[in-house]
Amino acid sequence: MMSVNVVLVGHVDHGKSTLIGRLLYDSESIMDERVEEIQKLAEEYKHRFEFAYFLDSFEDELKEERTIDTVSLMFKSKKNYYTITDVPGHKEFIKNMLTGASHADVAVLVVSAEEGVQEQTRRHMFLLKMLGINQIFVVVNKMDAVEYKKERFETVKNQISELLNSFDYAAEEILFIPVSAMEGDNIYRGSKGMEWYKGRTLIEALDEVKISEEEKVPRFVVQDVYEVDGENTIVGRVESGMVRRGDRIIFEPSGIRGKIKELKIFGGHLEEAREGDCIGVTISDGGIKRGDVFGLVESPPKLTKQFLGEAVLLGKELKKGETLELRCGTAKVRCEIKEIKEKIDSETGEVMERNPEKINEHDAATIVFATEPLVVEKFAEIPELGRFVLVKNSKNIGAGVVLQTNFFS
Ligand code: GTP
Ligand code: MG
Repeated sequence: MMSVNVVLVGHVDHGKSTLIGRLLYDSESIMDERVEEIQKLAEEYKHRFEFAYFLDSFEDELKEERTIDTVSLMFKSKKNYYTITDVPGHKEFIKNMLTGASHADVAVLVVSAEEGVQEQTRRHMFLLKMLGINQIFVVVNKMDAVEYKKERFETVKNQISELLNSFDYAAEEILFIPVSAMEGDNIYRGSKGMEWYKGRTLIEALDEVKISEEEKVPRFVVQDVYEVDGENTIVGRVESGMVRRGDRIIFEPSGIRGKIKELKIFGGHLEEAREGDCIGVTISDGGIKRGDVFGLVESPPKLTKQFLGEAVLLGKELKKGETLELRCGTAKVRCEIKEIKEKIDSETGEVMERNPEKINEHDAATIVFATEPLVVEKFAEIPELGRFVLVKNSKNIGAGVVLQTNFFS
């Protein structure tokens, strides 16, 4: 079995929670007593039995243990294990990505057949693009509410295709599924009301997802350096790709080159180390510092002095022209808020203002940062080097992701 990360996005009320409830229910991932309990509760409130209800009760359970307010749930098909993450709003989306809670393999975009494309549909598609998520399924939900009409499905499909194309996705290669999360049409089973639809159900589509196993460019983030008998052991973590004994490497920003003599791990030696491994790397050359990043000489880390990022502000305000500290990986550098391009409502993702002079607490914004030379990567490519924290007077006042390195507007 394979484990697949799914992120669910879409405009408010288009049916994300209901869809998760349906997937959990139809996959029989929910224990029976839980179903009964919730049904009883629902009756008490003379509520129609709704799947969104399910998720809300799970949400309360999960919130107590979690610091982030996105909800991840597991379910299992005959073929895969799924972790599915519901992202209620824009802020949660960013937070989720910042904490590394999920790097999605595939996104399911939920669009209501009644309402079609809305502002948040647009915004979420932008986010998917920026996060480098290339596998997308579009579910046109609430088909029951439009009498399962093929024409309505086609209209919405065309709207979404246009939007997808405008974000450089090839809409003709993307699967659109007409569903009713409420009634369960085309989720796990087919649909009597939509015999005109001959394509895959959502679970069939998910079961065919391919996870790319291509090797990523190696990046190693330096945490500490120890010198013993004229040799330097550099301790840190492989954040991307593989690192091997004998590799010729280059450190940035220090610019030092060297060759890996040994890869050490607690109590032993390795021939190669992979993403996530915390290791010691022995080389002869000195001068390497915490904050350096190394890569192979053939695919070196590049220095950036100006980049485009999207950040959410936790502090009171942030002004154009202001100088603060930016932390990325183990690096700490001075940075200037060169330009605030768009002020964004962190709840809905809607653009509120272009080129504002400042933003306030809880606002999000796309910002051009000018920094001391620094190794950053696009979040979509190497997440660990693509997220940053903004610090002012020793306090974290914001956090964000890198959209574009070496960005000059
Ligand atoms: P937010 O979390 O607020 O963004 O909403 P959501 O996308 O999670 O939507 P939710 O699942 O809470 O559903 C919103 C409303 O739409 C609820 O009243 C659902 O019962 C209704 N709904 C969801 N799916 C369907 C469907 O397939 N058909 C119909 N008729 N209604 C649906
Ligand atoms: Mg919801």
